[in-house]
Amino acid sequence: MNHSSGNDADRSTDPVVSVLLDPDWASGSLVDDVRRGLGSRPLRLPPKWLYDDEGSRLFDRITKLPEYYPFTAEHAILDRHAADIAAACDATTLVELGSGTSEKTRLLLEALHGTGRLRRFVPVDVSEGILRESASLIGEHWPDVTVEAVVGDFTLHLGHLPRGDTRMVAFLGGTIGNLYVEERAAFLGALADSLDPGEWLLLGTDLVKSIDRLVPAYFDAEGVTDRFVRNGLHVLNRELGADFDPGAFGYVAFWDPHMERMDLRLRAEEPQQVTIPGADLVVDIAAGEELQVEISTKFRLEGIRGELAAAGFEVAETFTDPDEDFALTLARRV
Ligand code: SAH
Ligand code: AVI
Repeated sequence: MNHSSGNDADRSTDPVVSVLLDPDWASGSLVDDVRRGLGSRPLRLPPKWLYDDEGSRLFDRITKLPEYYPFTAEHAILDRHAADIAAACDATTLVELGSGTSEKTRLLLEALHGTGRLRRFVPVDVSEGILRESASLIGEHWPDVTVEAVVGDFTLHLGHLPRGDTRMVAFLGGTIGNLYVEERAAFLGALADSLDPGEWLLLGTDLVKSIDRLVPAYFDAEGVTDRFVRNGLHVLNRELGADFDPGAFGYVAFWDPHMERMDLRLRAEEPQQVTIPGADLVVDIAAGEELQVEISTKFRLEGIRGELAAAGFEVAETFTDPDEDFALTLARRV
């Protein structure tokens, strides 16, 4: 499926877009997640449902907030080390999981392109609108790189990644930290299974730091993160005909020192009954009860190395920013 960028630029630079999430799949999977997550306690909604067009727009605004250090820190690492990363690996295809706007990825693309080896870019995201838009812009900017975008779920579709040459899978932004511990191990195992020995992973992870910086990053003064998390309720109202009153919930973001993760929730301010016709579900929510929407795990360098080794990756090099806020780990499938 081809997509024109709007100004009818050279069609040869239009990206190929494979849609692995058909509309039925998307609503079917949302129904399953809602039945599982809201049909039992604790109430939970997987964060991938935050990223409709509005959610992706709000996330983009988050990355520009002064309190949200992960974007700036990872950008600084790529600014300084993208050429080192490109020189250290022999990848000819760059796959990006949860690519979003691929804004920071441009630094990596530029460096890989500079080696003369880069032939293909494969951005993968559940958020189709932002994926098509950014894939189109990248195709225009690097016309000699084939862009094969995949509308897909990185927890389900790793086996469908294009093969054929040496791949580097970039998973940036710290998005791996949004997976629960058991999901993370399953994800890394599935990723290792989907790669051949010698292929590459570039993993972005946010690092453990002072609570004085962590909490404001997820509880910003402008309230953009609150809107981003609350958008999950708007998605359920629109997609499943639910009657959540987003204003009847307060936003809660706290640091869990035991799990070393931020925990983002919506707390019911009064008792309420919510009907979700699309999932055949009625949920009675008590005053003060919380809906767990997202975790954002923070890592330590030795922990990352251990988890990668357990999954079948050997770390080649680790890059951090000067303040050691964030890490980019280049690893090779053993
Ligand atoms: N990599 C970008 C964007 C991070 S935001 C950055 O570093 O700034 C997380 C992105 O992952 C969003 O674009 C969201 O739509 C996507 N995403 C979340 N869960 C996903 C899933 N299960 N499969 C594929 N994409 C997912
Ligand atoms: C995408 N992910 C890495 C973000 C994070 O920091 O965990 C999502 C986010 N949620 C609230 N703010 C940012």
